[in-house]
Amino acid sequence: MFKKISKISIVSVVLLCQVAYVKGQINPDDALAYCSVQAQKTLQNIPFSSANIPRSIPNGEANWRYVNYQDWCSGFWPGILWYLFEGTKNPLFKKQADRFSKELTPLSQSKAIDHDLGFQIFNSFGNGYRLSRNPEYKKIVLATADTLATLYNPKVGTILSWPRPVPNMDWPQHNTIIDNMINLELLFWASKNGGSKKLYDIAVSHALVTMDNHFRSDFTSYHAVVYDKETGKKIKGITHQGYGDDSMWARGQSWAIYGYTMCYRETKNPLFLDFAQKVSDVYLKKLPADAVPYWDFNDPAISNVPRDASAAAVVASALLELSTFVKEKTKATFYKNQAIRMLTTLSSPDYLSGSLNDAFLLHSTGNKPAKSEIDASIIYADYYYVEALVRLMKLNKGMKLVAQVK
Ligand code: GLY
Repeated sequence: MFKKISKISIVSVVLLCQVAYVKGQINPDDALAYCSVQAQKTLQNIPFSSANIPRSIPNGEANWRYVNYQDWCSGFWPGILWYLFEGTKNPLFKKQADRFSKELTPLSQSKAIDHDLGFQIFNSFGNGYRLSRNPEYKKIVLATADTLATLYNPKVGTILSWPRPVPNMDWPQHNTIIDNMINLELLFWASKNGGSKKLYDIAVSHALVTMDNHFRSDFTSYHAVVYDKETGKKIKGITHQGYGDDSMWARGQSWAIYGYTMCYRETKNPLFLDFAQKVSDVYLKKLPADAVPYWDFNDPAISNVPRDASAAAVVASALLELSTFVKEKTKATFYKNQAIRMLTTLSSPDYLSGSLNDAFLLHSTGNKPAKSEIDASIIYADYYYVEALVRLMKLNKGMKLVAQVK
């Protein structure tokens, strides 16, 4: 099937890496050309198996580890293909995006087993509908939003992120993780595109209750909060993937930055805009010089610990959007420049995979306490990197970042 794709030489990848990073200035078009070459290499190597969705490449290795549609990361690869279609207009990416999105269809037909349905279905079919208006995709997104809403507990006011026993979560009490903020986008979208208005109320409640309970006085986020499922009272704030209960786990904070920025876009509630800036400012203040965080800001072994390029990619994409909402010009420019600074580092030889493997980026950390995906290439880093590049390309052209699909 992929014989038509021309063989990509190591030389061309190295050259593209270099053009994407000329004199320290990120050029989104060149960086997208690099991503397009890498993604075509991945497409050439996809196995003929039910587990054919790239998830991560361990440090020092060259080949993707693949998962099937049930994995929480299954939506990122089709989402990448949709963004590459948007950024390059190459129809190959549209065809492959459709193919890999469709693999996730069963998620819209089964019971909710996790909050990750937004990551899975909105990144794949949501982007797909935005770019193709395929009515079949819309049906799948709407059905999945209703499924996600079944995890909402009105006594708490948030979605139950992990409906199963997980260490430290006092099951069967109610748990909510900060990552869950991202999945609210699916609910907002559905409520405005034919779904129930209740989905909007659930998303707003989740964001407000999380704002009240998930953050310390300095606006750094807990990874998880456990609530009494009957009274809604907060029991404790803890970590699952971070260094400690009271530490700022880099990707957790990135989900908060992205999540509250998106909540402002969807609601125009100034509380969310103010909060998005607060959670961004504490993150930016504590960043190392190259703007890519260590995996957890409070690991005492910094600077001898792995980075998390995925957090940098999520924040870069979020700050580009935040910069379009902030009224004060100096602050808006500051956020945009910080995002460009992050993308410039990510697009440098230190972080690009280039000829080492077929991913876009190196140096992400998945779950360090579980010794899983440490200093690796991980698919969600690539997803938010390509999303940020498309956003920067649009900003440079004076286009709207996230057009509301009606
Ligand atoms: N949602 C899981 C993670 O951020 O690793």
